[in-house]
Order: sequence, then structure tokens, then C-alpha cells
Amino acid sequence: MTLTVIGAGYVGLVTAAVFSELGNKVYCVDISKERIESLRRGKVPFFEPYLTEYITKNTKAGKLSFTTKYSDTVPRSQAVFICVGTPPKENGEADLSYLFSAVEETAKNLSGYTLIAIKSTIPIGFEDDLEGTVKKYAKAKFEFAASPEFLREGSAIEDTLHPDRIIIGTKSKKAQKILLELHAPISGERIICDIRSAQLVKYASNALLATKVSFANAIATLCEKTGADVEKVLKGVGSDRRIGHAFLQPGVGYGGSCLPKDVLAFIAIGKHFGYDFQLLRAVDQINQDQIELFINKVKRALNAASKNAYSLKGKRIAVLGLAFKPSTDDMRDAPSVKIINQLLGLGAQVTVYDPQAIQNAKKILPKEVLYAKDEYQAVGGKDAMLIVTEWPQFSQMDMTRAKKLLKRPIIIDGRNIFKKEKLKELGFVYSGFGR
Ligand SMILES: NC(=O)c1ccc[n+]([C@@H]2O[C@H](COP(=O)([O-])OP(=O)(O)OC[C@H]3O[C@@H](n4cnc5c(N)ncnc54)[C@H](O)[C@@H]3O)[C@@H](O)[C@H]2O)c1
Repeated sequence: MTLTVIGAGYVGLVTAAVFSELGNKVYCVDISKERIESLRRGKVPFFEPYLTEYITKNTKAGKLSFTTKYSDTVPRSQAVFICVGTPPKENGEADLSYLFSAVEETAKNLSGYTLIAIKSTIPIGFEDDLEGTVKKYAKAKFEFAASPEFLREGSAIEDTLHPDRIIIGTKSKKAQKILLELHAPISGERIICDIRSAQLVKYASNALLATKVSFANAIATLCEKTGADVEKVLKGVGSDRRIGHAFLQPGVGYGGSCLPKDVLAFIAIGKHFGYDFQLLRAVDQINQDQIELFINKVKRALNAASKNAYSLKGKRIAVLGLAFKPSTDDMRDAPSVKIINQLLGLGAQVTVYDPQAIQNAKKILPKEVLYAKDEYQAVGGKDAMLIVTEWPQFSQMDMTRAKKLLKRPIIIDGRNIFKKEKLKELGFVYSGFGR
């Protein structure tokens, strides 16, 4: 099949790479000339395991190409996948300006029946407004479908080739057939439904994942108050097959380009349809509180080791991990940004290290932040070391070496990656969540 993928971001590039790998002819369109030029030179604009290899291979094979012009690609395509961003507005609602502009440009270039499949996460019911936009410009037949995306950054190619499920939200058998045919070589359960149900699956899934994280954090706080050990408690809870271990990890909270914005958008959708999503408001509040709890742990740990009560003035702190999670360089809504800004605000000098995200971090972190070339350099001469992203290389650090390098052996573990007892034996002052 000949396809156009609109938006060369995480979702668009992975979708284009995988559909071309599966034998389709794929054009990928983006409004950013710079991004398209760099993709034509084989340079992927962000870190995602295996993506460069898939793009290089399929570009060379003539199955994948990049352009800024809709007119080059949309008229030849049987299906168009819209993968543009839907970032949050101030009030939590999704900003749909990129979506409407992408749909309008697509509409102007349609020739012959085309399926417009929306992969972007968009509020329930918007297909009606989008249809109105297309009807205004289109000279050919078209149909909308919802094809929500569930990839996880860091394992996006694997997730797209081997998803748990493929949600196909359509209005007609014809659209259903196209999407089923395209996904035929991919494993995973097919859930065929209407467009609104498909959109709700996406929001409800992310909302439940966020709820699990905030639930784990609430239990961690209760463990601290009762003297229980959150590791054991959540192991016991997650071992129930009805519940599972995934996303039941306490720490500085969820971040990234999806969970925070989708939780807020889902609350806004509820409000629009007359439902007060109290549960998700609490999930969001708990997530915000985690940053404050973490900063308080830093203050307490440093106060216990000095006389400088509740001020971090002059304290030198190493922050290990900047990306919102391991295996990505994505800094969108990363907890590290809020944490670092608060530490600087309290007068600390902050040195950071991340295996992938330093370049992106430099674009958004304040100028005073210092950058180390690895985790050992970062902790050298510091009053405390903070774990903010659970990159495996941090849990595998030589802690005897780290202790020698640190000025004070203080660790505040924002992801509970270390064994508390082992660090105590080595003489560290350790603070994690819920233990
Ligand atoms: N990133 C994820 O892990 C993930 C997972 C599932 C779903 N989603 C959803 O998928 C959508 C895309 O997310 P993303 O992370 O890939 O976004 P992104 O910001 O990485 O990429 C969006 C791309 O779209 C381009 N763009 C914007 N307007 C355009 C237009 N009119 N025409 C052509 N290109 C245009 C931008 O230049 C950018 O390159 C969002 O709705 C998001 O919520 C993201």
C-alpha cells in the first residue's frame, strides 16, 4: 500500500519506519524543513533504539522518503496517518492547532478515496469537527478512523512490531479492511470498535497507568508513616495476577510527553461531557506532591549532616538522570526539570549527568547548571547524590568508588534503585521512597 505519515516525531517516524519495513511505500511529511533535511541525510532528531537502522535500511531500499510537501505524497496515498503533536494548553485541554492544520493540508491534496487515520491522541468527539474541515476543502472521498498509538519511548520499534493490542476505530467496513490489511503482519489482539471508543481506550489506558504510579506513591507515603517497607508491600500487591507489578513503582512521579498531558486532557474531557473526574484530579495532585516530598528529603538529609537548617545555599548536589525515563533523550515534562529548578532556587549548585539527554537538557535547563561527562565525575566532591531517572548504569555503579568521590556519602534515591541495606553497610546515609 502507499501511505503518508504526517509528523516526523516519535510516533510518526516509528510508524513510517515500521510500515515501510513491512513492505509498504511510505512518505513522511513534516512542516520542519530542518527536520526533513536532517532525516534525508539519515540523521534521526532524537534517540530511540533501532530507529536509525530501520530508517536507513528502508530509505536505501526506496520504501521510505521524507518531504515537507503534502502535494508530493497525499494524492498518491490510500491512507494518511496523522501523527502530529497535541500538547497541553494552560487549562489542561489538548492544543489541536497542529492537528487541524495537518488535516486541512491533507484535505486540500486528496485525490480519490483516502482513509485518514488519526494516531495522535485527541479528545473524544473531535472527528466531527475534523470532518467539517475536510469537507470544506476536499474534492475527493475520504473517511476518518482512529488508530491510537501505544508505543513506549525507549522500546518504540519493538512495541510497534509486537503490540499487546491494535485498536481499530472506524465507521465503515471499508476503513476497517484497510487498517486490518495494513496491520496483518503485526501480532497482537485486534479490537474493532467505533471512533469514540478507540479514542477512549487511549485516554483510559494512560489514565490507569498514571493511577498505578500515584497509587504506589500514596502507599509509599503511608509506609513511611507506618514503618512498613514499600518494596515488600508493592511486591506483595503486584504478585496478584489481577493487579501486576508494572507501574507500581514509587518515586518522583510520572513525566514525559504523554501521561501528564493525557491525565489533564482526560479531566478536561470529563468536564466537557459533565463528569467530574475526581479520581484523576487526585492522581495528578499526588504526582505533583512527589516533587515536593523529594525536595524535602534532600533538605532533611543535608540538614542532618550540617547545621545549615533547611537551606541548600552553597551545597553541591549531583543529579543523576534527566530524561523522563531511561532509554530516551526526551525531556518533555521530565520531573528532573522541576527538581533542578527548585534546588537552584534553594541556593544549591547543581551538577547533572544523563547518558542520552544532555543535549536536550541544555536547551531547557537554567544556565547555572553544570554538566558532567559521566556519573562518577558528577558525584566528585558533592554533598549529595540524587537519582532522578533509573538508568541501569546508575544502579550498577561501583558504590565504593562513588563513596570515595563524594564529599559526603548522602544518597537520595528518587527511583528506589538501590538496596538500602547494602548502602548502609558501605556507610551511606540513604533516603528513598517508602522505606
Ligand atoms: N511520544 C509518545 O510516546 C507517544 C505515544 C503514544 C501517543 N502519542 C501521541 O502521538 C502524537 C504525536 O506525539 P509525538 O511524541 O510523536 O510528537 P512530536 O512532537 O515528537 O512530533 C510531532 C511532529 O509533528 C510535526 N508537525 C506539527 N504540525 C505539523 C503539520 N501541520 N504538518 C506536518 N507535520 C507537523 C512537528 O514538526 C513534529 O516533528 C501526540 O498526540 C501524542 O500524544 C505519543
